[in-house]
Amino acid sequence: MNSHSTLGPAPASTPAAAPLHRPRRLRRTPQLRRLTAETQVNANNLIQPLFLREGITEPREIPSMPGVYQHTRDSLRKAAAEAVAAGVGGVMLFGIPKDKDERGSGAVDPDGILQTALRDVTAEVGDATVVIGDINLDEYTTHGHTGVLGADGDVDNDASVLLYARAAVVQADAGAHIVAPSGMMDGQVRHIRAALDEAGHHNVAILGYSAKYASHFYGPFRDAVESSLQGNRRTYQQYPGNIRESLREVDLDLAEGADMVMVKPALAYLDIVRLIADRVDVPVSAYQVSGEYSMIEAAAERGWIDRDGTVLESLTAIHRAGASQIITYWATEFAPRVGR
Ligand code: PBG
Repeated sequence: MNSHSTLGPAPASTPAAAPLHRPRRLRRTPQLRRLTAETQVNANNLIQPLFLREGITEPREIPSMPGVYQHTRDSLRKAAAEAVAAGVGGVMLFGIPKDKDERGSGAVDPDGILQTALRDVTAEVGDATVVIGDINLDEYTTHGHTGVLGADGDVDNDASVLLYARAAVVQADAGAHIVAPSGMMDGQVRHIRAALDEAGHHNVAILGYSAKYASHFYGPFRDAVESSLQGNRRTYQQYPGNIRESLREVDLDLAEGADMVMVKPALAYLDIVRLIADRVDVPVSAYQVSGEYSMIEAAAERGWIDRDGTVLESLTAIHRAGASQIITYWATEFAPRVGR
């Protein structure tokens, strides 16, 4: 008698060799994978950085960031409208002045290039998205540092925060919903909050670039803003090997009145994103910076990596690590392809 007739075909593996648990059951179909996905990036959480360059008549592609442009006033308005149509949660604006000086005067000029960008973008898209201004002097100074230099050649902390406070007010006057101080000067959030409140801008929020590392991943951004940085930023940005220093910076920013905090760069610092996300009660943002963008674009251009898959994976990983918002140069392009 053939046992197959009653018991069916013999199992390919003996029962002893069969796994007791089979996690693959839930990965078997796209529907099962979708149902069991734990986290998913949402277009509402993506923020698109945009650059306005003073005095150009055609948009200029940034050589080290293919697909990213220094905009004219016209093309900036279009880019902002496209970002909104794509469903991004916010845009973060940067200005590149035609002329730089020692003190970064363009940053505090009510008619400076970033203020023009903020006015144009808020006129174009109104309240359809969140408009964020970056507060810093590095785009505006001849030496490329984040603040004004003291007699010792290092950035003068206390003189610089006074300029940030003025920059915050002119940005808020120009329509910024959020201002984002990125200079890593001590006490910057406190000064900015006080100045905004005094000017009647108590509803303008502050996104602190709280845990900002002295990173080589910012390289292409220097191209984007035509920075001629002399030296490095290690007296004010953090050493990449530090963890607790980030917690301290975040605590200080929150004590000074920050409404949101940021970790920057993103991919190489996901442990920091997770640590901070577990610790604070405010939204935690992560900035997927220029070098992260350029590395993927460059490898994809050579056919060494699947561009779209890698971009989506990187965004998912940053989100999974605990970032509520992701600032990314791919925001407009990828917003329609992630959830909403
Ligand atoms: C400061 C600022 C920088 C970036 C965002 N804001 C440059 C820096 O701190 O050196 C870097 C962003 C990027 O690399 O994409 N204005």
